[in-house]
Amino acid sequence: MKILVTGCCGYIGGHTCVELLNNGYEVIGLDNFSNSKKDVLDKIKIITGKEIKFYEGNMLNSDILRSIFSENKIDAVIDFAAYKAVGESVKKPVEYYINNVSSVLNLLNIMKEYNVKSLIFSSSATVYGTPEVVPIKETAKTGNTTNPYGTSKLFVEQILKDVYKADNTMNICILRYFNPIGAHESGLIGEDPNGIPANLMPYICKVATGKLECLSVFGNDYDTKDGTGVRDYVHVVDLARGHIKALEKLNKEKEGLFIYNLGTGIGYSVLDLINTFERVNNIKINYKIVDRRPGDIAECYTDTTKAKEELGFTCKYNLDDMVRSAYNYEKKNVK
Ligand code: UFG
Repeated sequence: MKILVTGCCGYIGGHTCVELLNNGYEVIGLDNFSNSKKDVLDKIKIITGKEIKFYEGNMLNSDILRSIFSENKIDAVIDFAAYKAVGESVKKPVEYYINNVSSVLNLLNIMKEYNVKSLIFSSSATVYGTPEVVPIKETAKTGNTTNPYGTSKLFVEQILKDVYKADNTMNICILRYFNPIGAHESGLIGEDPNGIPANLMPYICKVATGKLECLSVFGNDYDTKDGTGVRDYVHVVDLARGHIKALEKLNKEKEGLFIYNLGTGIGYSVLDLINTFERVNNIKINYKIVDRRPGDIAECYTDTTKAKEELGFTCKYNLDDMVRSAYNYEKKNVK
């Protein structure tokens, strides 16, 4: 089967390409390197011994999409290509909506032209806004997103629902990711954000290697076990495996619209993550407690039942594996 992976060199895209190639899929990749590096292609080849057929370009460009679909008989698309920085999205809403929403409309348009029906879309637990209850089921209310990034994911979900309503032969899977962290065990690919990291794990890694001085823990007065924010951290390789399960589901069902949360179902606090990082990697993390970050929620973790029952998806890796592999990648790669 030939799978088009947009954003194939990104953090989750790259790890998913590895899983796809290891599972015998042919991968056609598209990336414009807006937040990724070209050498990921070589690294994927080193890890898998296989090559991606790569196209450089932007999903907003219909010509490049047409070339891809006309030159390759694409069976399914996995769409990762998007901007993902929450803070930046508040400052650049237009750029975020164009890049994250218009690009999907463009893709859907060309998929229709070439009669390609199967699509897996990267969504996020952020579509749940402030969850009323945890663990979060897929049936929980969505909306009340607090930033354009989250709203762009919500908009695309709605667009996909409308597209399916109009054409019931479409075969769409929406995956709502919780907090992906960690890296491939080879240490060749991992998370390498531009500038000062906004997310917890890459920030901790930079404090561990001395590139940043001190981690700010955003609030210790939440209604959680130790007062710090609780999240469902999921190993990026498990998340990548989730896409294989989703593809298998689409292959079996042939048509439908499916929504799954991908996470471990376990909530860990910021202090849990710091303590685990220190113990596993045998290094001290300098941190201080500061005010809450605006827009943050207290707790967010998934109910794993639906993904387990319908996809057969369960996580293989625990928090120790996540922090070990994240630090391993950081030490080996990040300058
Ligand atoms: N945190 C800190 N200090 C930091 C960074 C984060 O204390 O320097 C805390 C946050 O307050 C939060 C936790 O660490 O309690 C996790 O924060 P992240 O920024 O790593 O992740 P978020 O849960 O805020 O958001 C992430 C992604 C979003 C995605 C969401 C889905 O950044 O894109 O998970 O749940 F939508």
